[in-house]
Amino acid sequence: MQRMPTFQSGQRVHLVDKKGRQYALTLKAGDRFQHSGETIAHDDLIGRPDGTTVRLSGGKTMIALSPTLAEYTLKMPRGAQVLYPKDIAMILTWADVYPGASVFEAGVGSAALTLGLLRAVGDRGRVVSYEKREDFARIAMKNIERFLGPVANFHLAQRDVHEGIDWEVDGTTHVFDRVILDLPEPWNVVPHVPDALRSGGIYLSFVPTVPQVVQTVEALQRTRAFGLIETFETLVRHWNIDGRSVRPDLRMIAHSGFMTVARRMEKGDAPVGQ
Ligand SMILES: C[S@@+](CC[C@H](N)C(=O)[O-])C[C@H]1O[C@@H](n2cnc3c(N)ncnc32)[C@H](O)[C@@H]1O
Repeated sequence: MQRMPTFQSGQRVHLVDKKGRQYALTLKAGDRFQHSGETIAHDDLIGRPDGTTVRLSGGKTMIALSPTLAEYTLKMPRGAQVLYPKDIAMILTWADVYPGASVFEAGVGSAALTLGLLRAVGDRGRVVSYEKREDFARIAMKNIERFLGPVANFHLAQRDVHEGIDWEVDGTTHVFDRVILDLPEPWNVVPHVPDALRSGGIYLSFVPTVPQVVQTVEALQRTRAFGLIETFETLVRHWNIDGRSVRPDLRMIAHSGFMTVARRMEKGDAPVGQ
């Protein structure tokens, strides 16, 4: 959805309290937002500028903001567990998702990563996503449309990607610039990737455990179609800066998962890297 200088009906808004906690609502004329026994009419927000301070019925003040994509994904309804913004940020850079790129993704889950991909490829690009669960696909579609509005360059198919990647455009099987997987058994998809990914294209998968990484890398090596295979994880540590109390936060997301990136090369070339 195009960002407007003032809040509109149908728009997603986050109310932020004094402790920085965020509460999500979708503006609708006549509705009321309720929190801890206090309320505010959506009509009191519609037409107000982004960043405005509002007062609830009991006197509590909150800041009303258009959520960033990262804020939105952490508060949107979920089917599957979403990728954290720290990982999405890394995926977009390490898979080098560029404006105009054609990207294949599976599974779509709640669509946190899909939203990042759609933003990165822009209007000239294309995202094709497979999701095997119908209920997750429905939630994903709603999450995407609530944030971006209708998207013409997104194609969601309810399919099992273990059976193959065969997206046809004008009767010809489409070859993608990027293939990105966030599902439990990427090694079952890897044998299909060489035919779906153009030479020089980038494969990236995300898995939470070490045995999954090992199986994935071994599957990539077996194809002899990939080089520059790398695996890494991302740790982000927030800091508390408050007067003389300058220290890392006491809590952090210490583990989410491992990314494996590989470059599609001419078949038969010896893989370089791991
Ligand atoms: C961890 S979730 C993906 C989360 C997503 N990246 C996000 O950020 O919201 C994994 C998804 O993969 C889907 N999945 C698992 N195996 C699949 C398969 N063989 N084909 C298609 N989708 C699959 C699951 O149903 C689930 O929705």
